[in-house]
Amino acid sequence: MSLEAEIRVLKEERRAVLLAHNYQRPEVQDVADYVGDSLYLSRKAREADREVIVFAGVRFMAETAKILNPTRTVLLPDPRAGCGLADSITAEQLRAWKREHPGAVVVAYINTSADVKAEADVCCTSSNALKIVEQVPPDREILFLPDMFLGDFVRRRTGRKIHLWVGDCPVHARLRPEALRQVRAEHPGAPVIAHPECGCGTQVLPDVDRVLSTDGMVRFAEETRDPEVIVATEVGILHRMRRLNPGTRFTPLDAGAICPYMKEIDLADVRDSLARLQHRIEVPIDVADRARLALERMVAA
Ligand code: 13P
Ligand code: SF4
Repeated sequence: MSLEAEIRVLKEERRAVLLAHNYQRPEVQDVADYVGDSLYLSRKAREADREVIVFAGVRFMAETAKILNPTRTVLLPDPRAGCGLADSITAEQLRAWKREHPGAVVVAYINTSADVKAEADVCCTSSNALKIVEQVPPDREILFLPDMFLGDFVRRRTGRKIHLWVGDCPVHARLRPEALRQVRAEHPGAPVIAHPECGCGTQVLPDVDRVLSTDGMVRFAEETRDPEVIVATEVGILHRMRRLNPGTRFTPLDAGAICPYMKEIDLADVRDSLARLQHRIEVPIDVADRARLALERMVAA
């Protein structure tokens, strides 16, 4: 039996749902029940009525699933699937930062550990960061963490007083303005769509054609009639784009933009995860209860 067939059988036996992020390996995306961005997958996890949620993504996504749907068994197929951006701030560092800015509202990007979310007022993802910040009362300062490029983008768009944590994603930070200028010169007329974590952020995000979450980029790709589109994010997303719109050429801004954490999970890991019910994600109850408040505010916004 193929690995895909084994996974399908085990999913039924375990009464499991398989969620996969847009950056996952193509073969993992193809066997998943739902593929999408952080917000979409959080919602799918929250409403999941199957006993087991297998999260083909990274740890903060699986933790979010567990926090939002605590009675389910949540599995991360490879425990090494972390996130360099989430690692850029600890709960202790956030507590110290809050002490420097009493009264500020803490907006935590979903790419954070459960401990950090527990210290936040509200969470956001790349698809709703503008909306979440706009809902903060206008007289309040904001601490935005941990991605400085996304935070700077939101600050420019909203004009709000936002303090930025100096963190970045090692994959997106390498997408620099020089590469963007070069690709524009080599592919004249092709629109550039970019994820707001891109390191071209501060100087260049205002100049790209669209700044979008990964699902926003997939939707753009599906609908465009352009012969070519330049894609500034992790290359795993190209799989969905090319399948949904074979008439358009999707060119990565940087073919080396590969998230090593997202690529930890392969089909054998997913199969083993279902067969052995590994690796279970647990979040201490007190942490989960506080983090849930910030996540539920995000989901309700
Ligand atoms: P999205 O929520 O846009 O999918 O982004 C998640 C992520 O980790 C980007 O690096
Ligand atoms: Fe984290 Fe960056 Fe990988 Fe996204 S692409 S999971 S932010 S390391």
